[in-house]
Amino acid sequence: MKILSIESSCDETAAAVVEDGRKVLSSVIASQVEEHKLYGGVVPEIASRRHAEAIVQVVQNALDEADATMDDVEAIAVTHAPGLIGALLVGVNFAKGLSLATGKPLVPTHHLRSHIASNYISHKELKPPFMCLVVSGGHSHIVMVEDYTKMKIIGKTRDDAAGEAFDKAARTMGMPYPGGIEMDRVAELGNPEAFKFPRPVVHDAPYDFSFSGLKTAVLNLIHNMEQRGEDIPKEDVCASFRSAVVELLVSNTLKACSDFGAKTLVVAGGVSANSLLRKRLAEESAKNGVRFFMPDKSVCTDNAAMVGSQGYYEYLSGNIADLSLNAVASLPIDYR
Ligand code: KG4
Ligand code: ZN
Repeated sequence: MKILSIESSCDETAAAVVEDGRKVLSSVIASQVEEHKLYGGVVPEIASRRHAEAIVQVVQNALDEADATMDDVEAIAVTHAPGLIGALLVGVNFAKGLSLATGKPLVPTHHLRSHIASNYISHKELKPPFMCLVVSGGHSHIVMVEDYTKMKIIGKTRDDAAGEAFDKAARTMGMPYPGGIEMDRVAELGNPEAFKFPRPVVHDAPYDFSFSGLKTAVLNLIHNMEQRGEDIPKEDVCASFRSAVVELLVSNTLKACSDFGAKTLVVAGGVSANSLLRKRLAEESAKNGVRFFMPDKSVCTDNAAMVGSQGYYEYLSGNIADLSLNAVASLPIDYR
């Protein structure tokens, strides 16, 4: 069964054709990142306008590259939540129009569930149940994926998301948006022991995260050095900061695996492209006898192939919307 999928929750306009949830026939992404770089982050108004300009061509290209027409497609999956509301509305309304015109069913798909599904594309053998660390620009969750469309939140961030913490710390050092990628690259050149950043724990919530204290610590360090007229040793700051964030993510996640008896661990979301996080999760999983899966780097950040994968399982579970479907800025991953 072929699904046409559409993603517009943030700053990538994307469409894909995916067969039976696992085989990507095409995946097209129009990124706006160069324009948002000028402002140091995503400008929602600009994002919506660029989606509106790009979406027709992006969807057409996805069909063409899959050598398909709408006649070959059995359903239309679209990211309806969570994300920037104006950006989501472009994809949702386009999908509704297409559904109305073609009579194909409309499948609302949760963005974070789709990030998890990026692993179904990379690992054909992977099936729930498993524990999943979902770390993106807007969210940091530890989720028990009981089935493809049944999830339970085990832990989450109390303040900033991991990607947001990376981006803000990187911006303070004058690095371009999205800072997480650049920080990961620069961190490879530094000493992770150079600076001792705090490792905040959330009292009575062993699986929750808090990154705001860590972010403040790096901001204070940089401002103090600037005031003293010192050069910022970017490599060492990046390496030490990355190490602190990664150790927090890894320790809570492995604790969740052990406490809940999970034998399989999966990582997903934009931050799952982080090279130290991938390495440390693999090492600790092996030590603890847990099978570990991570998405190919090509599907870690926003794309529509992952929407087509999750959309397939949503469709099978009966998650079909009518034309009253609306975009939702914030929606828990276990909403249904
Ligand atoms: O999942 P995603 O593409 O968009 C959201 O749904 O938010 O994640 C984007 C986030 C950004 O904060 C970006 O800095 C971060 O993922 N990111 C990384 C890396 N690659 C992307 N963070 C750390 N290391 C990376 N290699
Ligand atoms: Zn995302």
